Amino acid sequence: MKHFLDIHKTDAGELRAMIDLARTMKTARAGLPKGAPDATQPLAGRMVALIFEKPSTRTRVSFDVGVRQMGGQTMVLSGKEMQLGHGETIADTARVLSRYVDLIMIRTFEEQTLLEMAEYATVPVINGLTNRTHPCQIMADVMTYEEHRGPISGKKAVWCGDGNNVCASWIQAAGQFGFDMTFSGPSTLDPEDDFVRFAREKGVNIAIERDPARAVQGADVVIADTWVSMHDSQSSRERRHNQLRPYQVNDALMAQAKDDALFMHCLPAHRDDEVTSAVMDGPHSVVFDEAENRLHAQKAVMRWCLGV
Ligand code: CP
Repeated sequence: MKHFLDIHKTDAGELRAMIDLARTMKTARAGLPKGAPDATQPLAGRMVALIFEKPSTRTRVSFDVGVRQMGGQTMVLSGKEMQLGHGETIADTARVLSRYVDLIMIRTFEEQTLLEMAEYATVPVINGLTNRTHPCQIMADVMTYEEHRGPISGKKAVWCGDGNNVCASWIQAAGQFGFDMTFSGPSTLDPEDDFVRFAREKGVNIAIERDPARAVQGADVVIADTWVSMHDSQSSRERRHNQLRPYQVNDALMAQAKDDALFMHCLPAHRDDEVTSAVMDGPHSVVFDEAENRLHAQKAVMRWCLGV
């Protein structure tokens, strides 16, 4: 069973093969209308369940479109409307869904929900984001970096802000794809030690630098994300904004990075909080390419899961 649960749980060579397949598939359908089918239909006859316990624009639309382009069908399910949100166990939900569908993508809160779904499902399960990680996003991000600048191996990525789930997957990706990473944020929002340890054991340099101007020196890519994630309480909003304001990515900060540094953000962005509109819309930014590449990267992930 090939579940896609996390970057660090998937073989590095297989991650690389998925990125390469995503690029090939993207090139093959260049110029086609979005709704046109791919030349090959590897998901013909396959049904995919897309479960959302949290809001989504990119993940929902990109998975849905991707399945259709590959000839499959989707059903989008909201956690609240399922019996899952009304007391049915995750294990029973997994067993039941496995009788109807060929693949399950789930966006949920606790990582344990994802892991239990994968344990009891008899079809592959994909992590569409948990409070801890967001591996599909990082597949698109690595693909996007390499489209613009070539191999990411040996480069320096700098994360500015909260050491959240997207940051965690970036750190795991540093270990798997062989690039260095610097985290710059307040100590109370540091990434989990487990993620940092994993990447360091793979031989890459993971640094913590509290001063964002020092952190971005020599950066090939600067990354930001929202200061208040979907699972953070709204009561922490003001405190987080105060803590994270020094880590805003603006023109002055980007000027400290390499001249050809990219700016990345998984979106949705809160313009003029974690990143200024000048940077979002400026020459370094590739944020909308990242959003597009969710589609292509996830198509490759789904093919890998299903072995088609
Ligand atoms: N980046 C991302 O996962 O976007 P959505 O929350 O809109 O799916």
